[in-house]
Order: sequence, then C-alpha cells, then structure tokens
Amino acid sequence: MIKKQINQNDILNFELLNILDYSYIFNNEPIKRIKTKPTLENSLSKLENLKSKIEAIRDCNLKKNASKIVFGDGNIHSPIMIVGEGPGQKEDELGKPFVGDAGTLLNKMLKAIKIEREKIYITNVVNYRPPNNRKPEKSEINRYSEYLKEHISIIDPQILILMGSTAMEALFGGNKRISKERGQWKEIIIKQKTYKSIITFHPAYLLRQPDQKKFSWEDLKIIHKKIDELNIEI
Ligand code: URA
Repeated sequence: MIKKQINQNDILNFELLNILDYSYIFNNEPIKRIKTKPTLENSLSKLENLKSKIEAIRDCNLKKNASKIVFGDGNIHSPIMIVGEGPGQKEDELGKPFVGDAGTLLNKMLKAIKIEREKIYITNVVNYRPPNNRKPEKSEINRYSEYLKEHISIIDPQILILMGSTAMEALFGGNKRISKERGQWKEIIIKQKTYKSIITFHPAYLLRQPDQKKFSWEDLKIIHKKIDELNIEI
C-alpha cells in the first residue's frame, strides 16, 4: 500500500483558508490595520478643504445672489447631524444655519428630546441662500449633494436627521413624498459607510402648518428612542 504523504503545512494552510473570508484574502485594497479615530485637526482641515471647494464653485445662481456662505455649525465630533434645506435671510446675514424663526423652533424641538443644539452638528443641502427664499432647483440640489455627502462623511455621525423634502431629495432622490417617508430609519451608504438616517418635517414647514407638529413629535420620539438604544452620549 502506498502511504500518502501529508504535509502538515498544507493542512494548516487549508484550515486557515477555511476560517478566513475569501473576499478579504483576494481583495486588492490595502488592509487598514489601525482604525484611526478622526482627530480634531484632521476633521477641521478636511472641513476647511470642503469649504474652500464650495467657495470655488462657479456659475451658480445661488452663490451669485447670496451675501456669504453658510457652511455648518456645532460640534464637529457630534454623533448627531442635522441637514436642512438652505439658508434664509438671517442665516445669509450671519453665515450660520438655522438662526432665524425655523432655527428657534428647531432648538425647541431638540430641547423636547433633551438635546442641546450646541452638542450636535447642523448643515444644509445648499450653502448659499436661494433668491427670495425659493426652494433649490433639482440641478442645484444635485450639484450640492456631492458636497453634502462629503460633509457627512467628514462629520461621520451615528444618526443623520434629514429635515424637509430637499434634504430627502439630496440623499434619496426625487419623486418621493415626505409624508410617506418620514419617521422611519433608512440606511444610506456614503463613501462605503452605512449611515442610519431619518426623514422628518422641516421646522419652517411646521411654522406654516402647525397641525403637522403631531407627526414631528412622533418622529422626535423615534429619534430619542434610537439615541437610547445606541447608548449615544450627547
Ligand atoms: N432653513 C434651512 O433649511 N436651513 C437654515 O439654515 C435655515 C432655514
């Protein structure tokens, strides 16, 4: 009888292949061995870079008519990020998002679920005030959504709150009704990372339609529950 020679190394290699994921072994991407937490300087310089890119935009009707850029505000390391539509008059004057009447209501809404505004990060889909506070056009939403995605990826929040149909359109595309989409957790992949997001009514809409506040309150409670579930500290 011929005794089959078994190489001990082959057995070990075979066992190793079985326990490892093939896609991992044959992936061409370099392996990131150390997971680096973004440092303050890192995120700040990335945000400065992004801001400069937006400031370099040409042929934009929003930019031509606005007095200044409204980039973002709040804690850049916050686990919660809010995205609104675009600056209004007050925001255009002060260069900060949500500082007018809609901002006052937003602060109250956050307070109702025990969130201090300063502890979260806020930005808008478009960074320049649309003339006469009109809704940004489809082409403008598409153009600025690329910058918004980069913004989200730099802040890297655990929870993304999209306020209003423009924010919904920027990340989930048009032809959707906010009244149908609001109040549900939806996953969105940005730069290969999955984010938990929720769509809710915009505070400016609630100021015009106060009877809709009951739905907004439902959404806020859902957000509060998720913060508890994920043990998010803010
Ligand atoms: N509405 C928005 O969407 N963003 C602001 O910054 C202010 C009002």
